[in-house]
Amino acid sequence: MALEVLEKAQTARLELNGKPATLPLVVGSEGEVAIDIEKLRSSTGAITLDPGFGNTGSCRSAITFIDGGNAILRYRGYPIEELAEKSSFLEVAWLLLHGELPTMEQLETFRREVTRHTMLHENFGRFFEALPKDAHPMPVCAAAIGALATFYQEPETDQRIHDTFIRLIAKMPTIAAMSYKHSIGQPAMFPSNQLDYSSNFLRMMFATPCEDYRIDPVIARVIDLLFILHADHEQNCSTSTVRVVGSSKANLFASISAGISALWGPLHGGANQQVIEMLEQIEAVEGNADEFIRRAKDKNDTARLMGFGHRVYKSYDPRAAILKEACGDVIRKTGVSSHLLEIAMRLEEIALHDEYFISRKLYPNVDFYSGVIYKALGIPVNMFTVMFAIGRLPGWIAHWLELRSDKEFRIARPRQVYVGAKRRSYVPIQQRA
Ligand code: ACO
Repeated sequence: MALEVLEKAQTARLELNGKPATLPLVVGSEGEVAIDIEKLRSSTGAITLDPGFGNTGSCRSAITFIDGGNAILRYRGYPIEELAEKSSFLEVAWLLLHGELPTMEQLETFRREVTRHTMLHENFGRFFEALPKDAHPMPVCAAAIGALATFYQEPETDQRIHDTFIRLIAKMPTIAAMSYKHSIGQPAMFPSNQLDYSSNFLRMMFATPCEDYRIDPVIARVIDLLFILHADHEQNCSTSTVRVVGSSKANLFASISAGISALWGPLHGGANQQVIEMLEQIEAVEGNADEFIRRAKDKNDTARLMGFGHRVYKSYDPRAAILKEACGDVIRKTGVSSHLLEIAMRLEEIALHDEYFISRKLYPNVDFYSGVIYKALGIPVNMFTVMFAIGRLPGWIAHWLELRSDKEFRIARPRQVYVGAKRRSYVPIQQRA
């Protein structure tokens, strides 16, 4: 089999068992080249095999651009560094959803809409009561977002879809904070319409009915920054999940609920919780950093340097660079011990000079420093991935909307290479050995 890419002619020629097939090329706006294999099976009888989809483009998307070799991340063309410095989470959410930065009026309308939908139906109180006390907030959030669909069952019109994404962005922090309050046995706090998105979340997390919570604008800004940095990351595991579920025409609540479940895994958003657990393990035993690196490199050991490595970034994750700087600011501001940050920086230093990590192009990813910040801000460890989910929500919604308006829309249904038993006859149970 020989595959030749003829860029000039915008085609690739594939030869399979002596039979040629010509496949069109698709070139993205940043020059990425893809071979369009839509007609591959019908013209050659063969399919492609790509475990983990490392070489497979599942769609055309105009939302986020990543150049993993050059540490570039842009939402709708805007560099993450500029958005992190100059924008707010709600503005970034609008940008992802609509493709352009909002005018002052559009942003104000959006902010007002989101603010007015933050409350949950009273029945949600009983939903939370039914769950065990120590329920992890990620499955609680996935279940609660799925359950929202039972409260809003009107037919799916454009207006209804708009209302749904407003409700999701508005209610997600309320659900997240309620899941935390439930886990520590405190009464839930109602949202406050006077506050901005991140301040409102902090208040719902940390205020109690008997004692108000003084919101530090610097801390609220760091939370907003974290949400911005997590807001989208093109076709990652959870976003692809949202798209796959949405491709069956499942509603937005169901699709987002599935995305939250996918994000929970330790190889994806769950890594931020694992990073802090790893740092605490290392902290517990002096000199453990070198030992941990040794274990992470050992193929017979299951330990991995959590928060390191990325399918797409083969250089420093630009989000990690921003967070590393924010980490120092937060620690100076909160005055909490910087020991975990010191361990993280020591691990990074060792790894960045170690042949194993250098040759595999393994660098810190967004999760490496986010956990240290959450910890310094007093966010409980099992809420770390929930923080990621709140941030990722506009990205998931933007992809769901893009999928639904895609003229190439089809239900996602990959193929497989079957490697199981060949045809055989049923053996009655009495005759089986
Ligand atoms: N520690 C030690 N070795 C690693 C690590 C790590 N964190 N990550 C990758 N490697 C090694 C692999 O063992 C493999 O080595 P080999 O070539 O000798 O077999 C090589 O580097 C390539 O790794 P893969 O697992 O094939 O890379 P893949 O792209 O499939 O996985 C992933 C990427 C899942 C992120 C991986 O790097 C990892 O497990 N990292 C730790 C978990 C983590 O931080 N996840 C968060 C990702 S960011 C996010 O989701 C927001």
